[in-house]
Amino acid sequence: MTAVHVVGSRREAGWLIAEQIGELVRRVPKINLGLATGSSIETVYTELDRQGVDLGKARGFALDEYIGLPEAHPQSYRSVLTRMVVDTLGLPASRLMLPDADHPELFDRVIDRWGGVDLQLLGIGSEGHIGFNEAGSSLGSRTRAVTLAESTRRDNARFFESVEKVPRLAVTQGVGTILRARRLVLLAFGASKAEAVAAALEGPITARVPASALQLHPDVTVVLDRLAAGGLQFVGRQPSTASTFPRRL
Ligand code: GLP
Repeated sequence: MTAVHVVGSRREAGWLIAEQIGELVRRVPKINLGLATGSSIETVYTELDRQGVDLGKARGFALDEYIGLPEAHPQSYRSVLTRMVVDTLGLPASRLMLPDADHPELFDRVIDRWGGVDLQLLGIGSEGHIGFNEAGSSLGSRTRAVTLAESTRRDNARFFESVEKVPRLAVTQGVGTILRARRLVLLAFGASKAEAVAAALEGPITARVPASALQLHPDVTVVLDRLAAGGLQFVGRQPSTASTFPRRL
């Protein structure tokens, strides 16, 4: 674990990571970004937009996608990423890659062919999933089709009319796939994430908490609000970014 930042707000978290990504993109416009969805990561896309970061030369690799939703469904991750990253940040639609439910195993090869993911954005599920790697996912797993946990379907029901409308299956980069990215960035907010965050960062490395695999990676940045950090006891936190965050933006 490289850095754990505890910040005052979601906006500050998004700003901090957007600054870092903006700097990377200016240095390496052809960056390969691993793109996650979810409300935590949305703050990064919003701040990238506010900072005028242009992903016109980048390539994007989605972390996961539902199975069984038409591509054009507003909650398919293709649609979400098209709205947040293609339409807003200028990533060319042809360079947004999503795992194919019919051939999930090809995705790892696609990623490799384009040189690997430089920076992978991640949220965390309330039970410790990353991507859609639910509890029990092998830490060496590759991109594959999975069954969603009922807790995940309940958590994601807010994006649908009801929990029944949340797909039961998904395709996700595996834990092993995620670990191959050169740099990982995880954001989590709110008390509902505190237990999962503590288990992931301070608990044993175990398939029961797939996010605990982050402990195996040499370059991870974790950004939490105070509530999500509430269960941590030992992890050394970085000095607050408060002095540099432009609060009056
Ligand atoms: C979904 C995504 C995950 C993400 C999670 C967290 O389940 N498939 O990749 O980690 O949402 O979402 P949120 O940030 O909205 O809590």
